[in-house]
Amino acid sequence: MESKIKTLNEKLAEAYLGGGQVRIDKQHKNKKLTARERVKYLLDDGSFEEIGALVTHRTKDFGMDKQKLYGDGVVTGYGTINGKLIYVFAQDFTVFGGSLSETHAEKICKIMDLALKVGAPLIGLNDSGGARIQEGVRSLGGYADIFYRNVQASGVIPQISAIMGPCAGGAVYSPAMTDFTMMVEGTSYMFVTGPNVVKTVTNEEVTSEELGGASTHSTKSGVAHITSSNDVECLEDIKRLISYLPQNNTETAPLLPFEFKDEVRESLSEIIPDNANKPYDMHQVISGIIDEDSFYEIHKDYAENIIVGFARLGGRSVGIVANQPMYLAGVLDVNSAKKAARFVRFCDAFNIPLLVLEDVPGFLPGTDQEWNGIIVHGAKLLYALSEATVPRVTVITRKAYGGAYDVMNSKHIGADMNFAWPSAEIAVMGAKGAAEIIFKKEINAAEDKEAKWKEKEAEYAELFANPYSAAQRGFIDEVILPKDTRRKLIKAFSMLENKEVVKPKRKHGNIPL
Ligand code: HXC
Repeated sequence: MESKIKTLNEKLAEAYLGGGQVRIDKQHKNKKLTARERVKYLLDDGSFEEIGALVTHRTKDFGMDKQKLYGDGVVTGYGTINGKLIYVFAQDFTVFGGSLSETHAEKICKIMDLALKVGAPLIGLNDSGGARIQEGVRSLGGYADIFYRNVQASGVIPQISAIMGPCAGGAVYSPAMTDFTMMVEGTSYMFVTGPNVVKTVTNEEVTSEELGGASTHSTKSGVAHITSSNDVECLEDIKRLISYLPQNNTETAPLLPFEFKDEVRESLSEIIPDNANKPYDMHQVISGIIDEDSFYEIHKDYAENIIVGFARLGGRSVGIVANQPMYLAGVLDVNSAKKAARFVRFCDAFNIPLLVLEDVPGFLPGTDQEWNGIIVHGAKLLYALSEATVPRVTVITRKAYGGAYDVMNSKHIGADMNFAWPSAEIAVMGAKGAAEIIFKKEINAAEDKEAKWKEKEAEYAELFANPYSAAQRGFIDEVILPKDTRRKLIKAFSMLENKEVVKPKRKHGNIPL
């Protein structure tokens, strides 16, 4: 068994830490692939076993009995990606527009059931005109059978949806209930109601691309987690994503072979600017900490004030949630809280340890945020982190202000190890604003108000704009030098490897949705 795992780990390491050969065939780079080509590219050579190739639809209506095509518009089966078992379906647009009939749905359900019983990821390659119009309610029932299975499998096996063509109407709800939705730029779209209906109902003129293309869903709605410029890249992106994930919720996150060598990273000491109000790119901190080139960002272009993604730390898959001072100073708002909460819940469901990198000045103020429910959406992140039982480690790089300090994986909500850099400021708010409020009378009474304000600001900063008060209370376990962060984190996650949490008995919690 041990040698089997070793072989698999070595294969993964070879494929994703350099050396690995990426099978991109240049002639296919800029065109839509067929369903079979997609399956071939996705899986290891020769590993695909098809199930249900001879299935045909049962409908006789509208002359359909004379148009029976084997497979009925979807290729289904199983195979491997870098040696790991995967179940896959790929809709075939060349057969009735990839539309979903009763039998097409049965084929998908069959492999979903197998994936759940065996405990292996499910990947759906979607390219379909939706419910098969000739079949009426039978195809709608087929969709519902799939939706139901998506939910039963949620949190048990990873489910990934790639949208590689049309995906309209209620059909969008299967991808929406899977863990990750990938979209191909320029050739895929997703919407509940298309441009024609939109025009009729609201009089808005909009193209399919504007309404539900990859760029819309990766920047505006957040429906798409990853976008790729063509089919081949999309399939490669799926393979890369899979490499960070366990097969199911009973397995631990993948651990690649790892050799200790460059754990002291001097470059991390130069990232935080002297002026606390100057931005810096949190990506630099991430890449300074993790194994080389191992960051795989999710939701890259959506709610950029928070960064989420997978990485490897000492060979171990970890999920990273990090405030991004480059955008909106790294504040928490409605979209960033939703984005991070969903990611945290995925990692927790699949035993992927969480690393939180914190530089947050608080929640974004304003009517827009309040009226859009920052209270309930911010609570999602607070809830998701509070309920997560995977190993959880935080590093405060600079600001940890107000309620956001509590939310961003503080010790108080169950984080296991909390580190702070010497540049950390852990306080109710920034020193300037704090001085203005609590020393208002003194400042107003002073002859030189500005000078008094500065004096009081410095006084407050001296007391709270540092990590030491928090460390004295034990809210911070250790103040560490930036250059030692990688070493400390590798050791902390290794120490936490066998963490177990016994939760009170309940049906399920009631996350503020
Ligand atoms: C049966 C369909 C079909 C469908 C396409 N085809 N969609 N057949 N049921 N839903 C067939 C076409 O008749 C055509 O057959 C072939 O597929 C290719 O379609 P084209 O229209 O020629 O292709 P294109 O111009 O690329 O347009 C693609 C399309 C369009 C935008 C997807 O076909 C379209 O609008 N289809 C209908 C979409 C739709 O309204 N679906 C229902 C959504 S509601 P031939 O024989 O000519 O090659 C839904 C509810 C789900 O899905 C509910 C879940 C709860």
